[in-house]
Amino acid sequence: MLEVAGIELMQKVKTIRDIDVAGKRVLIRVDFNVPMDREFNISDDTRIREALPTINYCIDHQAKNIILVSHLGRPSGKNAELSLKHIIKRLERLLGRSVVFADDIDSAKSIQATLKNNAIILLENIRFYKGEEQNDDKLSKELASLCDVYVNDAFGTSHRAHASTHGTAKYTQEKVAGLLLKKEIDSFAKAFSNPLKPVLLIIGGSKVSSKLALLNNILGLVDKIIIGGAMSNTFLQALGNDMQKSLVEKDLITQAKAILDHAKEKGVKIYLPVDVVSTDSLQSPSEIKISPVQDVPSNFMAVDVGPASTKLFNQVIRDSQTIVWNGPLGVYEMTQFSRGTFSVAHSIADTYAFSLIGGGDTADAVDKAGERDNMSFISTGGGASLELLEGKVLPAFEVLDKRN
Ligand code: ADP
Ligand code: 3PG
Ligand code: MG
Repeated sequence: MLEVAGIELMQKVKTIRDIDVAGKRVLIRVDFNVPMDREFNISDDTRIREALPTINYCIDHQAKNIILVSHLGRPSGKNAELSLKHIIKRLERLLGRSVVFADDIDSAKSIQATLKNNAIILLENIRFYKGEEQNDDKLSKELASLCDVYVNDAFGTSHRAHASTHGTAKYTQEKVAGLLLKKEIDSFAKAFSNPLKPVLLIIGGSKVSSKLALLNNILGLVDKIIIGGAMSNTFLQALGNDMQKSLVEKDLITQAKAILDHAKEKGVKIYLPVDVVSTDSLQSPSEIKISPVQDVPSNFMAVDVGPASTKLFNQVIRDSQTIVWNGPLGVYEMTQFSRGTFSVAHSIADTYAFSLIGGGDTADAVDKAGERDNMSFISTGGGASLELLEGKVLPAFEVLDKRN
């Protein structure tokens, strides 16, 4: 069962507002792991923008200096392509200030010693250090030696127990959450701790297996669940439909049945697609058909929910007061198969419900649907929001100071 107690514990973290940063060296673990194209143009700078309130707070409250620490991608050793140098211009533009780049921890130290007060330093990709992902004590101590106050504002990386997200806190006196980390956990609390009912979970995406723990955990906390995307194929097959060439996880059919039974026992209503859009080939579609789930054409694969399902889902959405959405309802990256996902995004936007969007692709789909500003909250965490919905206490929260 998803432990609301876990969310409430995470909500108790102290934030920078609870301490005094004046005259102190502040290290902020941010998540600047932003998508970039081959020429290193940032295609979505949301994560940088969302870190600004915490950085600005420290500037406004006279921190002596600020060191920003982040990872970018998954390098194994040093890799110029994954240098955080690529983001410095955007960061400077958004902050309206200059930022000094430090190639490593030693140069960060000498910059700290020589620069005037109020300097902002960006440390090179912390994953260039082997010790980062191993949560190495030596690296944690070195990072801690750079600061008087440790701030974690990297919600997107809060499910990782790495040196900069976890170990460093052990060696710092004051360890608090940034404003983004707090805003994220408060939004999840709003959806699960004492939500306005009915609570609706919309779940989609590519695999049941990646969201099985979430489904099992969340049954006690929601009133209704809409299942779409590739994951609904496994449920539909479990109910006796022949999903033809659709993505079906055959080894999970029994588990899918168990989830449906469990939901019934708990009085949670489950809504599955009643029709689907299917195609002969995802790579080069030559035929696209709409059919009831009972009649998927042979050798076709379901790639979106159909128009009747969309109508049904939109009705359920309209009747909900709290909506949590994780996972697109079709292959939304292809225009032909994006209608179900976009339609759901538009109907959520039209409600007065509290809407919480989690998942990297779901956030991207909402953005592509043009509804980014019409959701109550879009999480900056993909994996992190998934683990949170699975009921875990995220490692980054564990090590921060708590209010009594
Ligand atoms: P999120 O990142 O929001 O958690 P997921 O990563 O679980 O979402 O799933 C997103 C992916 O699922 C998208 O790439 C989308 O194309 C794919 N997908 C959704 N529906 C289908 C489907 N019916 N068949 C194949 N892939 C699908
Ligand atoms: C993300 O993009 O989900 C976070 O930055 C975490 O990255 P990771 O999955 O490489 O740890
Ligand atoms: Mg994804």
